[in-house]
Amino acid sequence: MASTLQPVIKNTLPEPKGYPLIGHALDYRLHPLSFYAHCAEYGDFVRLRFGPHPVYFLNHPDLIKSVFLTHGACFMDRAKGRESRFFDPLFGHGLAVSEGDFWRRMRRLVQPVFQRQHLAKYGQIAVEMAQAELKTWSMGQWLSIRDRTTRLTRQIVAKICFGEAGVTHFQTIEAVLNAAMVEYDNRDRNWLLYLLPEHFPTPSNRHYHQAAKDLDTLLYDLIATQRRTGADDGSMLTQLLQVRDETGTGMSDQEIRDELVNVVIGHDTLSDVLGWAWWLIAQHPDVEAKLMAEWQTVLNGRSPTMADLPHLTYTEWVITETLRLYPLAWVTGRVATQDCEIDGHPIHVGENVVMCQWVTHHDSRFFEQPQDFKPHRWAPESVKQIPQYAYYPFGGGPRICIGRGLTMMETVLLLATIGQRFRIHPLPNQTVIPYPGPSFSLRPKPSLQVELIPR
Ligand code: HEM
Repeated sequence: MASTLQPVIKNTLPEPKGYPLIGHALDYRLHPLSFYAHCAEYGDFVRLRFGPHPVYFLNHPDLIKSVFLTHGACFMDRAKGRESRFFDPLFGHGLAVSEGDFWRRMRRLVQPVFQRQHLAKYGQIAVEMAQAELKTWSMGQWLSIRDRTTRLTRQIVAKICFGEAGVTHFQTIEAVLNAAMVEYDNRDRNWLLYLLPEHFPTPSNRHYHQAAKDLDTLLYDLIATQRRTGADDGSMLTQLLQVRDETGTGMSDQEIRDELVNVVIGHDTLSDVLGWAWWLIAQHPDVEAKLMAEWQTVLNGRSPTMADLPHLTYTEWVITETLRLYPLAWVTGRVATQDCEIDGHPIHVGENVVMCQWVTHHDSRFFEQPQDFKPHRWAPESVKQIPQYAYYPFGGGPRICIGRGLTMMETVLLLATIGQRFRIHPLPNQTVIPYPGPSFSLRPKPSLQVELIPR
């Protein structure tokens, strides 16, 4: 599709009207999604102010590519706000929050555990655990599909990361994720809580920090045991114990702990991908019929495996299109670590740029009928019309999501495994809106209530 980058006049960028001192911070805070949609009306390169800090909003694939690739070296770090610091006790110094040479070393060390041969094992775990979980799903009752799939995907990631120990100690892992969500929701309702010291002893904050401590005790114990026994169960933990950098140095206990927790938290988004997919499928019987036809042809009632993935193309388009309409990571920011120029406009060290998947993915310049759910737009004959970086649910450049392959594989396998057994029928007249929730994840609110109808 033809696209014309709107011209930028050097040093004069459009700027929506803001308030004295706080600039656009309040508008963003009150209506994050519509705020950026509104900014896009001013152009592809817009100047904003959050307090005294200038922030540049970019909304064209060419500009987005500049940040991720062309000037990627200037934009290696993510901007960190108070909200993201809330997760510090969990993320530690993991990939998602680390910077510079430390990040580079960690990324090189961790990358191999996401290689194809390992994904096959993780995929097998996902399907096996889904089959076991499905036995406990009873039909004919209304339930929150998010609750069900969250539990399932957490069980899966616990086993991927820690092997059988992840199954045994699932409660400790789940407890910290639940406590973090409760405390995050409290802060979301009352943003002033962010102004208090991080350890301020509200009951839910105490609970969150205690759960995080319990998790640490468990993880350091598991790491020590695994180091001692040297047993290799194929879990991410055992793989991370074996990796070495170019000097032959392995990862410390804390580095392993931090990366595994980053994986567990990153993985928590998967239940919302599935939730959105079911929401969309339920409203498009034609899509559901095509999915059923694909599963019938490729699987004929059996469970999918990694070997089936190349043949589950329509299922993959459904997930791809779901992530276009509901990009879980709906906004991505970077901070300039060197002075640079984008499209003739200088960006100085320390200034932030922000790109909003939610806005770009719904832009009619890049997607025909952008509000419509059309998995076929990802077919090889039509995908060519979509400019690179008009679609970036996993970010881009050197810091692109390390879990993107795992996400696509696992959601396709789970959709096919569960979808063959049950039709997910949403409660009639339900209104679900996308809500920017914890960790910048766009979740369905309220949680989707469904009935499970056996096939
Ligand atoms: C639908 C699911 C997911 C979405 C939409 C998503 C999205 C993203 C995005 C947008 C980024 C930032 C990329 C950038 O700054 O350019 C990111 C980074 C990251 N994601 Fe994901 N992610 C998902 C699932 C996962 C999973 C399953 C894992 C773990 C296995 C994971 C682990 C990470 C990590 C560790 C980073 C930091 C990478 C780095 O800075 O080197 N994500 N993700």
